[in-house]
Amino acid sequence: MGIATTGLSPVEQTAFLTVYARALDSRWPKPILGDTLADEVVGKIDYDFAGLGVQTSVVCQTALRAKMLDDRVRDFVRRHTDAVVVDLGAGLDSGYYRVAPPPTVDWYSVDLPGIAAVRDEVLPAAPQSHTVAASLTDRGWPDGIPADRPTMLIADGLFAFLTEPAIVGIFRRITEHFASGELAFNDYGRIGWVSRVAIKLYPQKMFKDVGSQFGYPGFKDAHYPETWNPRMRLIEEASLTYAPEVDLFPGWIRVMSKMARYSKTGRRKARILRYAF
Ligand SMILES: C[S@@+](CC[C@H](N)C(=O)[O-])C[C@H]1O[C@@H](n2cnc3c(N)ncnc32)[C@H](O)[C@@H]1O
Repeated sequence: MGIATTGLSPVEQTAFLTVYARALDSRWPKPILGDTLADEVVGKIDYDFAGLGVQTSVVCQTALRAKMLDDRVRDFVRRHTDAVVVDLGAGLDSGYYRVAPPPTVDWYSVDLPGIAAVRDEVLPAAPQSHTVAASLTDRGWPDGIPADRPTMLIADGLFAFLTEPAIVGIFRRITEHFASGELAFNDYGRIGWVSRVAIKLYPQKMFKDVGSQFGYPGFKDAHYPETWNPRMRLIEEASLTYAPEVDLFPGWIRVMSKMARYSKTGRRKARILRYAF
């Protein structure tokens, strides 16, 4: 009998989709991310993961963006051995174990209380890994996290579920609390209303779950978040379509991803944005 998931809100349950996508990737003969711990986590939870209908393209995107965020965290930790890493909307992500930072680094995983409790049950405890059960829309979320060390904040699959005022609030709270660092997150560019309606109409449960929770249609210009907080400076816009791991994508997904390089909209649809403060 696995860990029960009753009582989780619909937005907390979106964490099942991304952890399952990473678990599926880890079962492939040539994985993109190879997170076998994600598969162990899935095995511990009593939930109909197969019923989500996660598509192969979603597995590719989810695994690759996690890898690209991991690479940026690894680089930051190499440059700042006393760093603090903060994963915003961490869900059940095992990024701490993939990156395996030195013991001088502290890692904080922030998420809503229900899923944060599941996280503590399914992932191994580690002295430098801390769970923060809080809503990022509450100003107090960073209060227990050290403010005076170089800080790498990441958000994977979070911002689409928040409203723009809530995201602006998080951007501002980051520089109010943390002295210096970087924020990196995945982004889909501007999601037009046609795509948003289409997501809701797809038969797979995963699209219905995600579509019903979508809060933010996004933006095209990666400089736009600088208007929310002038202390944040864009330092990287990296499209997933250029990543060498695209060669590991199966057949038509690989072809479509490489073709997307040739259109601005296609490049933006899957990107990692990074800001310094
Ligand atoms: C699609 S999941 C991604 C989880 C994780 N980053 C991953 O890659 O597996 C979105 C996560 O954002 C969290 N989330 C949504 N709104 C939040 C809020 N206001 N405060 C904290 N976490 C939130 C959800 O609970 C969920 O775990």
